[in-house]
Amino acid sequence: MFFDTNPKIILGIETSCDETAAAILKKDNNGIQILSNIIASSAEIQSKYGGVIPEQAAREQLVSIIPVIKEALEEAKCKPKNIDALAVTYGPGLVGCLLIGVETAKTLSLVWEKPLVPVNHLLGHFYANWITDKGTLLSPDTFPIIGLLVSGGHTDLILMENHGKYRYLGGTRDDAAGEAFDKTARLLGLPYPGGPAVSKLAKQGNPKAFKLPRPMIKSDNLDFSFSGLKTAVSNIILDGLSPSGRMSESFRADLAASIEEAIIDVLVAKTKKAAKQFNVNQIMLAGGVAANKKLTEVVRKTTSEQISHAPIYVPPPHLCTDNAAFIAACAFYNFHPVNPLTLQASPGLSLDKKLN
Ligand code: KG4
Ligand code: ZN
Repeated sequence: MFFDTNPKIILGIETSCDETAAAILKKDNNGIQILSNIIASSAEIQSKYGGVIPEQAAREQLVSIIPVIKEALEEAKCKPKNIDALAVTYGPGLVGCLLIGVETAKTLSLVWEKPLVPVNHLLGHFYANWITDKGTLLSPDTFPIIGLLVSGGHTDLILMENHGKYRYLGGTRDDAAGEAFDKTARLLGLPYPGGPAVSKLAKQGNPKAFKLPRPMIKSDNLDFSFSGLKTAVSNIILDGLSPSGRMSESFRADLAASIEEAIIDVLVAKTKKAAKQFNVNQIMLAGGVAANKKLTEVVRKTTSEQISHAPIYVPPPHLCTDNAAFIAACAFYNFHPVNPLTLQASPGLSLDKKLN
């Protein structure tokens, strides 16, 4: 198959968890623009059960995938012939969900005779920073950059030396930052996903009210650990329940604020440490937890005080959480098409192994 090695329009597909997403992006001299960015989420269904049920999420992917791709084409006013290439998340994620996106992309690639680029979802998250959104040029164009990925399943630090050239610096040894939000939210009786709910409640609370652990904050490495947080929160709740077994509103708000601050403290300390260790001035955040306003504020404040002129890149909140726009954006800069017949979903893919 012959293809343009400098594609201008890419259709991205993302189905790694509970979002079915398709987006069409265009790259020109002004950067990368979104022509359409469609997301069907089954999060409301997951919310009912307090988390994602893999089989159910996969079923929802199957129902949504074709309508979502159709809508992305319509909104972008694109016909298949206008698309130069397809990009699809091939891992990590829930295998049943990944398969829906991967098999759909393989089929479209063969039928439309367009190149197919597999994208590591984790690397993809960082590329939300290269999307030119509403006139703001977010693109970090000078390497090296320290990247912090904070999502529901991952907390990773990388040193990106160029597109497709990065070093894994460290990551969580147990729960991810988003998972810590989700699990402690559940203990507080808040819905899934927990991050936005904890953050909203935290606004009314005192972050110094409870002393929560900051595991590994002073360790020599760039690894994280968040699982101790839920045990600490659970113990505080058991001690703080009223005789009727309820938590007061102020107690819940104080605990939410303390949780948010504990997670942010550790994330910021390790990101700062990585930036100093590798003498890197630019920092980018990515992943659902990067939608947290307080995290962004603290990173900006701390790093500008302690690392002079450090530009901080954070995608707008709607591009932090899962979408297909960052999958397409990643493919523009990491354009390595594969034979569609041989591509397989890779649920356990990580940044550490650098399989991308
Ligand atoms: O990146 P993402 O959309 O999905 C994964 O690839 O995991 O991240 C989802 C995670 C969830 O754990 C959710 O609670 C968290 O991001 N999250 C937030 C916020 N918005 C989403 N955490 C803290 N504050 C937020 N505003
Ligand atoms: Zn994600």
